[in-house]
Amino acid sequence: MSDAIIQARAVEKFYTQPDGNRIEVIAPTDLDVSAGKIICLLGPSGSGKSTFLRMLTGLSTPSSGEVLWHGKPVGNEPPNVAIVFQSFALFPWLNVLQNVEAPLEARGVAPIERRKRALKTLDTVGLDGFETAYPKELSGGMKQRVGFARALVVEPEVLFMDEPFSALDVLTAETLRRELLELWLSKKMPTSAIFVVTHNIEEAVLLADRVIVLGKNPGRIRSDFEIGLAHPRDRKSGKFVEFVDYIYKIMTQPDAEPANVPGQVRPASTKPPRQKYQMLPHARTAGISGLLEILNDGGGHDDLYRLAEKLAMDVDDLLPIIESATILGFATLTEGDVQITLEGIAFAEADIQARKMLFREAALKHVAILQCIESVLKAKADHSISDEFFHDILDEHFSSDEVERQFETAMNWGRYAEIFDHDPQNARLVLSEPLVEIHPATKP
Ligand SMILES: Nc1ncnc2c1ncn2[C@@H]1O[C@H](COP(=O)(O)OP(=O)(O)OP(=O)(O)O)[C@@H](O)[C@H]1O
Ligand SMILES: [Mg+2]
Repeated sequence: MSDAIIQARAVEKFYTQPDGNRIEVIAPTDLDVSAGKIICLLGPSGSGKSTFLRMLTGLSTPSSGEVLWHGKPVGNEPPNVAIVFQSFALFPWLNVLQNVEAPLEARGVAPIERRKRALKTLDTVGLDGFETAYPKELSGGMKQRVGFARALVVEPEVLFMDEPFSALDVLTAETLRRELLELWLSKKMPTSAIFVVTHNIEEAVLLADRVIVLGKNPGRIRSDFEIGLAHPRDRKSGKFVEFVDYIYKIMTQPDAEPANVPGQVRPASTKPPRQKYQMLPHARTAGISGLLEILNDGGGHDDLYRLAEKLAMDVDDLLPIIESATILGFATLTEGDVQITLEGIAFAEADIQARKMLFREAALKHVAILQCIESVLKAKADHSISDEFFHDILDEHFSSDEVERQFETAMNWGRYAEIFDHDPQNARLVLSEPLVEIHPATKP
């Protein structure tokens, strides 16, 4: 018998599109959740983190495979879990105390008992005195305290959280993270394990005993490793930075085999990635230009970690920009170091029109969907085609939200590169006039 609380066995999730296409969101995945640990699940947007969390909690059923709690399939008996959401998800018509009592009421706990337990939990999370306040009267940080209280009051065996700090300002988020850690480390929390979904790398390294990194399209575990650093952890310490760099590296190289975990020989579990249709990172050309300018001005290379700090950017926003520059051949990424290429320098130092030409050259060389759009438009007599056509191509590979994002990114890049123009009124793409004007008289 395993001592795991939760065992996910080859769980897989498909969503069926309105047109009948099935999109695989989570590839068959094994995962155990054991007592005594904070586990952070990291991954880029759309990698299926929330989907995976929902399957572990029993809120959603896997398309195949199974989730066991203490060796028994969920469904027979719902597990004792609670989830804290990014959006707080409080009942606006109930006051703080009533919000915290609500899950106990749903479980049939008697009124006196539930009041007692709710008051005690409110005290634990620093909300005493706020019992009669309504959610709309509270700051984001206080609302999330109510979210914690409402989760803890049911004494969940595993406390799940889906980006619990993402909607809060930096300082409030940091305060709540520290308080959560303190409650956990001092064992004032009636819970055996915490499972946190986040896209914030530093948050994961700050909190986690174990980090799982998901890759996307489809979601799959790319790395699963322990962080053995003592608490409180110092964000500036060499070991901390090593873990942050390691995770950055995994997330910016979606197709590479992850490197060794700091201080370990091999990651606990890695699977060779499956090559899928090239997915464009969701970065706009202005962001890519900005990154290349900063790199060029800063001597041509920079450490990922420092670059994020310099740009005061969220990881989730910086990663796709770096990935885009890499795809286009304007930068490379090795050992946590972003290095501008000769093509990147040429771009950073060019004027607006020359930049467009260089971008066009790079895009047509490296980006499959833009090559495809260009050749289709060239082949058509009227050099135009409906958006629908490319939506259909993308539909084969991505979920409908992702199709929208892929299309929007391809539009942004293609129009900047003056490969084509978009006519939104008629929902059509039109081949651009050649960048270098050919005078009518000189035409063959
Ligand atoms: N009910 C649904 N029907 C169809 N597709 C869905 C559904 N729920 C999620 N998806 C798709 O599954 C993929 C993974 O979604 P999920 O919300 O689990 O990702 P995530 O990693 O939590 O993303 P984020 O960081 O943006 O919260 C996305 O492409 C999403 O569009
Ligand atoms: Mg999510």
